[in-house]
Amino acid sequence: MDIEAALEEIGSAPNLERLQSLKVQYLGKNGRVTQAMKTLGQLPPEERKEKGRVLNEWKRALEEALAVREAQLKEQALQARLEQEALDVSLPGYAFPSGGLHITSLILLELVNIFRRMGFSVVEGPEVESEFFNFDALNMPEWHPARDMQDTFWVDFDRAAEEAFTIQGPFGEEVNGLGGAVLRTHTSGMQIRYMIQHTPPFRIVVPGRVFRYEQTDASHEAMFHQLEGLVVGPSITMADLKGAISELARGLFGKEGKARFQPTFFPFVEPGVQFAMWWPERQKWLELGGAGMVHPYLFKAVDDYRERQGLPRAYQGMTGWAFGMGVERLALLRYGIPDIRYFYQNRLSFLRQFRG
Ligand code: PHE
Repeated sequence: MDIEAALEEIGSAPNLERLQSLKVQYLGKNGRVTQAMKTLGQLPPEERKEKGRVLNEWKRALEEALAVREAQLKEQALQARLEQEALDVSLPGYAFPSGGLHITSLILLELVNIFRRMGFSVVEGPEVESEFFNFDALNMPEWHPARDMQDTFWVDFDRAAEEAFTIQGPFGEEVNGLGGAVLRTHTSGMQIRYMIQHTPPFRIVVPGRVFRYEQTDASHEAMFHQLEGLVVGPSITMADLKGAISELARGLFGKEGKARFQPTFFPFVEPGVQFAMWWPERQKWLELGGAGMVHPYLFKAVDDYRERQGLPRAYQGMTGWAFGMGVERLALLRYGIPDIRYFYQNRLSFLRQFRG
């Protein structure tokens, strides 16, 4: 047996399988060295001693070569695996997109929180509204020219009827009989709904989406948001209204914020005002909405409705005030946004600027 060739073969075994078979070939039960050792007994003592020494040496050399090669092959396999499974930690990670509140929501929350601090409750109402709540009960009968102030989206009951379409009143009663259906042109209809359902005194604000049948441009959108306020009690005055709007101005613009009223007309308030807020930082007045003392016509319409529902009249001798303001309008003025259409185009580069 050529020991040098055997060692050489082991040293260059290409893989662990081949190495294993070489091990069997030389050192296994029927391996060449093992076999040779078995024949030692038949040799004369002198020769046996010498041959035995040589075979032991071979065995030891083969064992060592096998161990060395096995370690080499295992190391190679490990390296190959490490390379294959390598993780390149220098690669930039994937940005995980995170959402945020829309600018309209941020402004609404800010407004609503100022009123919460003054003890107002927050309520919401339907966007598809009966003509009765949106107009008639607010002292705007069909012939009233004030209806032209708000171009209206009308909802076709007959076509909508395919989907069993009804408008529900404050108690879940059907009110389809009370005129047509509109996409509410303002949140003021909730004044009526809330008063029918509740007994004064109370103070509420109503945030919500409103719709106008408008040609859109930089300052007109067909959909926008309003915040409505209503306070009713036995001795509510115009001074309370001024106080609340002034407090709103301070909440928005700091302690130098203040409010200004100018007379104007809305059918559902008397007297009626438009109000502006002083923005100290920019030294200017921002025209933000309308307000006034609740018109007695509303109290009568509400009590008549309550009576029809079998409820006691509750608004005789009450007074109250209401206001309504544009939410996008406040954001436009405050942030200098040049076009109201940006709000609902969903361009992230615009929206991200206002993420809270
Ligand atoms: N509803 C009116 C509008 O949309 C605003 C308003 C509300 C005015 C309450 C007076 C009182 O223009």
